[in-house]
Amino acid sequence: MSNSDLLTSLQNNFIGRDTEYPTVDGRRGPRIYLDSAASTLMMGPAYNVGHEFLVHYASTHSDLHYAARGASHAFEWAHQRVLEFVGANPENYCTFFAGSGATAGFNRMAASLSRARPERSVVLVSEMEHHSNDLPHRHHSGQVIHIPCAGEFERYGGLDMDKLRAICDEHGENINYIAVTGASNVSGAITPLAEVAELMHAVGAYLLVDASQMIAHAPVSMDDADIDVLVFSGHKIYAPGSPGAVIAKKSLLNAIKPAELGGGMVDDVYIAEYMPTATLPDREEAGTPNIVGAITLGAVLDLLTRVGMDMVREKEIDLIDFAWKELSAIEDVTLYGPDPADIPRTGTLTFNIKGFDHGLTAAAINDYHNIQVRNGCFCAHPYVRELLKRELWEMDIDPDAPNAEGDIERKRGMARASLGLYTTRADLEALVAAIRDLAGRREEILSLYEPIGSNGYRHKNFTPAAVDIFDPERSLEQFLAQPA
Ligand SMILES: Cc1ncc(COP(=O)(O)O)c(C=O)c1O
Repeated sequence: MSNSDLLTSLQNNFIGRDTEYPTVDGRRGPRIYLDSAASTLMMGPAYNVGHEFLVHYASTHSDLHYAARGASHAFEWAHQRVLEFVGANPENYCTFFAGSGATAGFNRMAASLSRARPERSVVLVSEMEHHSNDLPHRHHSGQVIHIPCAGEFERYGGLDMDKLRAICDEHGENINYIAVTGASNVSGAITPLAEVAELMHAVGAYLLVDASQMIAHAPVSMDDADIDVLVFSGHKIYAPGSPGAVIAKKSLLNAIKPAELGGGMVDDVYIAEYMPTATLPDREEAGTPNIVGAITLGAVLDLLTRVGMDMVREKEIDLIDFAWKELSAIEDVTLYGPDPADIPRTGTLTFNIKGFDHGLTAAAINDYHNIQVRNGCFCAHPYVRELLKRELWEMDIDPDAPNAEGDIERKRGMARASLGLYTTRADLEALVAAIRDLAGRREEILSLYEPIGSNGYRHKNFTPAAVDIFDPERSLEQFLAQPA
């Protein structure tokens, strides 16, 4: 199969892509899923690999019985697929799985790197970061310096390289590492990683990359960019239920102590002492791993390697350009983040519709148009508030007021449409049409919704219950109704 045919076949094989839901007008139809930055849908053929493995399920770390031998081989295969996918030569790099996403990896690396080099007490973090790649560093390191972005107000985004250079000059060898996103989960702005690596390495600091929003959208080569550590979540790349992955230079891992202790990572244990193994990745993978999740993730990465991430990126750029142009043309829409013509972006589009709170936009797009987008601050509060600053000032709202009341939180956010491999131009045309429709009947929509919680909205006459959408008990009942 050619790689372009494989891509088409994969695009048509996502579980739940066409799940049908009701809309306010009484119709029922397939959803349009534009919430991939939060979590992607499951790639069908990769799910099947994980499912088939269950026939042979056993734990790893033995090859004496058949199933354990198969499991150990498949788990090791998943590690190799990760290294290959991120362009990390196994001679120099090692990967380990951690927790249920990237958050576990950041906490682990922040703790280990701070402990390993206490004399370097400064950590740099960009202002675009997701809280997962900010708070662990604040917690573990002496001082976090936040690196500003380029541009201002709605166009704020992309690392300000001049300011980064100045901070490197000032803090030099006090810098332990920089933690920066490969692509923002708010604006999709892509970071020039090779350039950042060069700056960091000149002062002996490490580069730790959050690839959560890059991994499914753009090619990455750790070898070429000379990245020291890269972290991502498997659920952001079509393998929900899979673990987070950390890929790091072996030289770096050999210099740190394992952050987690338990079974599988020691050579021997006595009452008086224990000896952690020198073998990687075992030393970093204490406990029984998420074997099924890792194998499913390995299968996704294998298939996408066959397609080639250059092709995935090329297709996504066409969609981003189309959506940016169409949404920019709507008078009542504000788009956030750098213009893709100025700074390359991944397929994440944040916006507000004039006169609509972000929660109302997300609810009405769902209820009337069956399009699923997210809203709020996306766990990147400082960045979102910076992007909204001008509009909030105009509404007499302090962007940074702590513990704001509900009415203010309802204004302090945006809606986010984010793309996946399964997103088509027709999906984006539907989004554009939906936004035009809502903007054109603002008063009617406003009268039909009431605010709920800190930033949500609920339709006054149309609210399908959660249990009508999916109920685990109903699924179990099908099994329980069968004869034994
Ligand atoms: C850029 C970025 N980093 C980190 C994370 C955290 O990932 P997880 O919740 O899977 O640990 C996310 C999740 O939204 C993200 O978008």
